[in-house]
Amino acid sequence: MAPIISIRNLSKTYSNGFSALKNVSLDIEEGEILALLGPNGAGKTTLISIVCGMTNPTGGQVLVSGHDVVKDFRKTRGEIGLVPQELTTDMFESVINTVSFSRGLNGRKPNPELIDDILKDLTLFDKRQNALRELSGGMKRRVLIAKALSHEPRILFLDEPTAGVDVALRKDMWQLVSRLREKGVTIILTTHYIEEAQEIADRVGVINKGELLLVEEKNALMRKLGSKQLAIELTTPLQAIPPELAGLNLSLSADGRQIIHDYELGGNGGAIGPLLQRLEAAGIGFGDLSTRQTSLEDIFVSLIGEAK
Ligand SMILES: Nc1ncnc2c1ncn2[C@@H]1O[C@H](COP(=O)(O)OP(=O)(O)O)[C@@H](O)[C@H]1O
Ligand SMILES: [Mg+2]
Repeated sequence: MAPIISIRNLSKTYSNGFSALKNVSLDIEEGEILALLGPNGAGKTTLISIVCGMTNPTGGQVLVSGHDVVKDFRKTRGEIGLVPQELTTDMFESVINTVSFSRGLNGRKPNPELIDDILKDLTLFDKRQNALRELSGGMKRRVLIAKALSHEPRILFLDEPTAGVDVALRKDMWQLVSRLREKGVTIILTTHYIEEAQEIADRVGVINKGELLLVEEKNALMRKLGSKQLAIELTTPLQAIPPELAGLNLSLSADGRQIIHDYELGGNGGAIGPLLQRLEAAGIGFGDLSTRQTSLEDIFVSLIGEAK
């Protein structure tokens, strides 16, 4: 199946000469949830603005459902809902008018029942007659989401949806994302919370300084780059790893009380049984065993670190 979004060799150099995106290529499949991870200034918002037709690229091309986002702006924009990073809405308008108006702006016929459903879904229904300026920050963000969903888009962009929001809204947001996915909506979210990507994404892209460093299925990424550590508690501290245990990927903790064994995930489980037999044969007494797995966070930090 053709990707719903196809990004080809995309570059953006702002008028001040700053190069915010460098030759980014990425295909996004219909129905997937892609998390774009990157530190502040990485180029995430720039990328989204180009796909949504709000900023023109200086190189490359983006197709949404086969249509060019610059030449066929009306067509492609109608397929997309965008929850922007910043609040940019008329603060004197009521919630219900803002959301209904947004549907009309996207060329859709009025559908009050649908709008009511969206407001109920986002626990905004009781506030529907309130002006936006009367709402809390979290509530305003819910309105932005309602606006983005008002025209039933097939693609939803969430630009840092949970930056600075409370835990309740974050949980609601994750639930909303999984409900939308069940309906087949394609979701692209940017975040610098690794936890968020780990929780909800099918694929993860890492972007830094305008470059897409990798895009990978989340579980494959964890298997490929993740590793596990086994810590073996020693009954008697050691000064050094005995020579007969060389070549087994072992190291000693700083206090000499633990032997640490690093192994790849998806390998043979680190062959822990034979390792323990070797320890016994070498006359090393041990007690407790514990394992620790690298998280997406460790992987991310090491990638961004390498790219510096
Ligand atoms: N209009 C602009 N003119 C010049 N530089 C810009 C403009 N907009 C963004 N930038 C710069 O481009 C880089 C990427 O910004 P942005 O896409 O907002 O990153 P992110 O969303 O990942 O934090 C930043 O260094 C930012 O300062
Ligand atoms: Mg941004």
